[in-house]
Amino acid sequence: MRVLITGAAGGVGQLLAPELAPGHQLRLTDVRLPPGGAVADEVVVGDLTEPGLAERLCDGVDALVHLAGNPRPGDGWDRLRGPNVDVLTAVLEAAVLAGVRRVVLASSVHAMGGYHPLARRPEAVPVRDDWLPHPCCRYGATKVFAEAAARVYADSGAMSVVCLRLGGVRPAPAHRGWLDTWLGTADLGQAVRRALSAEIGFGAYSITSANTRGMCDLGAARRELGYAPTENSETYAESVPDGPPTMCAARLSTGERR
Ligand SMILES: NC(=O)c1ccc[n+]([C@@H]2O[C@H](COP(=O)([O-])OP(=O)(O)OC[C@H]3O[C@@H](n4cnc5c(N)ncnc54)[C@H](O)[C@@H]3O)[C@@H](O)[C@H]2O)c1
Repeated sequence: MRVLITGAAGGVGQLLAPELAPGHQLRLTDVRLPPGGAVADEVVVGDLTEPGLAERLCDGVDALVHLAGNPRPGDGWDRLRGPNVDVLTAVLEAAVLAGVRRVVLASSVHAMGGYHPLARRPEAVPVRDDWLPHPCCRYGATKVFAEAAARVYADSGAMSVVCLRLGGVRPAPAHRGWLDTWLGTADLGQAVRRALSAEIGFGAYSITSANTRGMCDLGAARRELGYAPTENSETYAESVPDGPPTMCAARLSTGERR
C-alpha cells in the first residue's frame, strides 16, 4: 500500500514512519525535512497551503495519514484555524480528487475532553466513542470539526475515513499527568496499521495504550478496528516525576478571548 504521511517531521510523524515502513511504501511530507526520511520511498518538503501541493502529494497514493496540524491545546483560533481547518479541508479536497480511498485522520482525546473529570463530570470516565463529541478547548473543537468534515467525504462513498482520537504520544509518559491518556509508539503504529486496513466507511475512535487508569473506553477501537494495545502507562508510574493532568488545562476561562 502506498501511503502519504503529512506532518511527518512532527513528534507523532517521527515515531509513526518507522512503525509503518515495513509493508508500506511511504511518501513523507512536511514544511521541514522529516528526520526519519531514510525509511521513506519519497520525501517532499513543502507547505500544504501552497496551491497545488496537496493535489500533487495525493497523486498515486492509496491512503493518506493526515498528521499535519497545530497540536497545542492552549492556542487560540488565530493559530489553530490555518493548520487545523484550512489545511485539513484542502487536504481532504485533494485526496478525494486524486481518488485516495482511505484517509486516517489524527484527531485527539481533546475532542472528548469535556467529559474528563477536570470538566467536573467525574462520573463520565471512561469516555465512550458513541457519546456526543464534547471538546474541552478550542483545539478539541477543531478536531471535532475535522471529524465532521471528514464524514462528509466518507458519506459521498469516494473514500473511507478513520479518525483516531489519539492520546498523548511519546515513547514513555513525560510525567504522572500523562498516565491516563498516554499512547506508546508500538500501540500508535498498531492503531494506524489497523485503521489503514479495517473495513470501515467512517469511524472515530479513542486510541490510548491499555492504561490501568485510562480515561477512554477502547471498546469501539477493539471491536471495529481490531486494536489490541500492548502497552500500559502503569509500567512507568513509579519512575516518572509528578506533573499536572494534561487534559483540559486549556479550558476557557470567563472573559478570555483569543
Ligand atoms: N502529540 C500528541 O500527543 C498528539 C495527541 C493527539 C493528537 N495529535 C495530533 O496529531 C497530529 C500530529 O501532532 P504532533 O504532536 O506530531 O504535532 P507537531 O507540531 O509535532 O507536528 C505537526 C507537523 O505538521 C507540520 N505542519 C503544520 N502545518 C503545515 C503545513 N501548512 N504544511 C505542511 N506541514 C505542516 C509541522 O511542520 C509539524 O512538523 C496533529 O494533528 C495533532 O493535533 C497529537
